[in-house]
Amino acid sequence: MINFSLMGAGRIGKMHAKFIAAHPKAKLKYIYDPNSQFAEEVAKSTSCSIASSPEEAINADDVDAILIASATPTHTQFITMAAKAGKAVFCEKPIDLDINKVNECMENIKGTKVPIQIGFNRRFDASHKKAQQARVKKEIGELEMIVITSRDPEPPGIDYLKAAGGFFRDTTIHDFDLTRFILGDDPVVQISAFGAALFDKNSQHVKDLDTAMFILKSKNGVLIHINNSRRAVYGYDQRVEVFGSKGMVISDNQTPTSLERYTSSSTNEKETIHFFFIERYEQAYRDQFNEFVKCVEDKTKPLVGFEDGRNALIIANAAYESFESGKVIDIKL
Ligand SMILES: NC(=O)c1ccc[n+]([C@@H]2O[C@H](COP(=O)([O-])OP(=O)(O)OC[C@H]3O[C@@H](n4cnc5c(N)ncnc54)[C@H](O)[C@@H]3O)[C@@H](O)[C@H]2O)c1
Repeated sequence: MINFSLMGAGRIGKMHAKFIAAHPKAKLKYIYDPNSQFAEEVAKSTSCSIASSPEEAINADDVDAILIASATPTHTQFITMAAKAGKAVFCEKPIDLDINKVNECMENIKGTKVPIQIGFNRRFDASHKKAQQARVKKEIGELEMIVITSRDPEPPGIDYLKAAGGFFRDTTIHDFDLTRFILGDDPVVQISAFGAALFDKNSQHVKDLDTAMFILKSKNGVLIHINNSRRAVYGYDQRVEVFGSKGMVISDNQTPTSLERYTSSSTNEKETIHFFFIERYEQAYRDQFNEFVKCVEDKTKPLVGFEDGRNALIIANAAYESFESGKVIDIKL
């Protein structure tokens, strides 16, 4: 049995609490969140104890692993505390918004041997994984292009925007990681980024963006296009195309059921696609957690680690440099 402390009981923390509680080989021992109402909700639904400080949650003798789902600025501190206490770490993306803090954390945990997995859940989505496998097994021949469309159903509130650290570092970071996942050992070497604040007043108010497009190039010459929006009236739009010399695979949008309606006024009418990430990626979130438990049990290296979190942030920083300068930026991972 692997005993967990969970840091953070917000949107994603509550979801992780559910997965820990449901896993036959995991047990949630402690929750820590300064928002006592959130902590109590998780404690009640999972029968865990409420820790009175991060130290108590992380250093507890009866805890083997720490799941960090708290606000982003807390991540590096909690990773360092957990690694130094010899506890396995699962940490939500991004590791931090500031590369200097990520590098400092990397130095601080050097020499510690604990597994660290970063929450890039899209790598665990069954369809995206098959698209990546189509590249690995050369089902599409030689890889030439990747096209990623990733649009949220609606913009977040202003408080979220103020703390999130910008569209590219908070949101596109998933797409940068997915790009790296599909490319495998062919690194991204260049990026050109465009962004705009076209419709969301809150994004405009905090000088953030709501619309973005990127072109990236890999060392082998593969071209990648990513497009993002904070609003898609038809739901959470998540599509990935992997194109090569022998064809293409598409990981398409998913509807809650496969029902199609044919009426006197429409053909092929389907239900609307999943509303947002918790519904669309439920299987991926569960499988990434199952994978983490397996790594801790088998003492193996997580499939997506600290270095992947750091590399995705380096690409996001290069994207900002391109957006601000209007130039193509070289990326050194
Ligand atoms: N992988 C994904 O798809 C995904 C999706 C959503 C959020 N996230 C990430 O998860 C993290 C949390 O996001 P969220 O949407 O749940 O935010 P949220 O605001 O709903 O929850 C954050 C929680 O952290 C708590 N918190 C703040 N300081 C803390 C501290 N010192 N110790 C413990 N808890 C603390 C807050 O009280 C809050 O309950 C962020 O880093 C975010 O980027 C990842």
